[in-house]
Amino acid sequence: MKYQFPKNFYWGSAASSTQTEGAAFSSGKGESIWDHWFKHEPNRFHNGISSTEASTFYCNYQADIQLMKDIGHNSFRTSISWSRLIPNGVGSVNQEAVEFYSNVIDEQIKQGIQPFICLFHFDMPLSMQQIGGFENREVLDAYANFAETCFLLYGDRVKHWFTFNEPIVPVEGGYLYDFHYPNVVDFKRAVTVAYHTMLAHAKAVEKYRLLELKGQIGIILNLTPSYPRSQHPADTKAARICDLLFNRSFLDPAVKGEYPQELVSLLQEHQQMPEVREGDCELIAKGKVDLLGVNYYQPRRVKARENAVNPDAPFMPEHFFDYYEMPGRKMNPHRGWEIFEKGIYDILMNLKENYGNIPCYISENGMGVEGEQKFLVDGQIQDDYRIEFIQEHLKWLHKGLEEGSNCLGYHLWTFIDNWSWCNAYKNRYGFYQLDLKTQQRSVKKSGEWFAQVSKDNGFEVE
Ligand code: BG6
Repeated sequence: MKYQFPKNFYWGSAASSTQTEGAAFSSGKGESIWDHWFKHEPNRFHNGISSTEASTFYCNYQADIQLMKDIGHNSFRTSISWSRLIPNGVGSVNQEAVEFYSNVIDEQIKQGIQPFICLFHFDMPLSMQQIGGFENREVLDAYANFAETCFLLYGDRVKHWFTFNEPIVPVEGGYLYDFHYPNVVDFKRAVTVAYHTMLAHAKAVEKYRLLELKGQIGIILNLTPSYPRSQHPADTKAARICDLLFNRSFLDPAVKGEYPQELVSLLQEHQQMPEVREGDCELIAKGKVDLLGVNYYQPRRVKARENAVNPDAPFMPEHFFDYYEMPGRKMNPHRGWEIFEKGIYDILMNLKENYGNIPCYISENGMGVEGEQKFLVDGQIQDDYRIEFIQEHLKWLHKGLEEGSNCLGYHLWTFIDNWSWCNAYKNRYGFYQLDLKTQQRSVKKSGEWFAQVSKDNGFEVE
């Protein structure tokens, strides 16, 4: 069977500034929350490795972009580090950073690789966090000014902009589940940060549109379909609430320009509404995106809660559901995530049916594996499991296209094995293997396979 993809389909991968650049404390960069947190709690990071030890893209970008070209990339996403470009979050711009990002963008274009640029990938400048991060509306304006600075500097060459990557993750990590700084556990504050992030997004979109640049602006959301254990009304209700809290809380404002009434009512009922000010709704309405990036790794399976809520425990999303482990589910044991390829199709169909078939692309999908060294044969990692993972997802994506989805491309997470927040280098995701000691990059079998897929604009399987 042949899986042919549409002309000009985006083939590439994604990464982010903090996870690849290195040079975290040099070249004029200000500290981000990650630099700060590591200094204070290095034990929170796998094997005590910080982002300073990220894969040296800051000095190796030219050679790395050549490696992208070698495996058939026609597009690549990274982010601009706010704290590198504007070290204090507001105020003067770091000229060395201006030049660095300009060179990266030019080099990608020179190699025929469209630059997709994201403006925030979990990396709040420390100076902004010190005044409350996205809990403080001043920071929303600072972010919008940073975004505008980027549009003015690079908007002539960058045609695909993204305001945020997975904006729900800093909310979950930083304000609910203790896996990002500032390690707060408080539902109401989490909701405020989520809401303010979407206001910041809308402010940046508004700035972009005012400049009348020739390009598109979007957002990247990790859409995690919520599947109920059964069709029992209590299970389907649990799944519907999860969808509201974890998907529609960002998807609806980003695509429809408004929040679902059901979500507002739910938050009101539980006294968890953020402060809404005059003009907010109009602003959110202006934040509708041109292009949606979809990160998909795993589904969320839930069931109705089985035990009573502890009235003294902090209010959490899990007030409304229990996680459900489906018997026989396929797992990636390294990451502890279920592999459910059809999820990609379900997302695309949901976007088609309920979100006006907005132009979208798969901006991240991938498989993190620990100890890949054991798959080394004659110096190359034989990651057949990753090839199978990508291929099976692409088959479902293709089915979505056949049924009218407006999906424009597929990016793998990630290009070269990179540093991944608290997991550091535990799980490897790249098309290229990274030797941490020598910084040498070696193409994996999946990288060569992907080069062929990109060249043929598809693949054939029996
Ligand atoms: C994505 C993020 O959610 O998952 C990336 O956008 C991250 O920044 C990737 O690196 C993999 O995460 P993890 O936790 O498996 O290392």
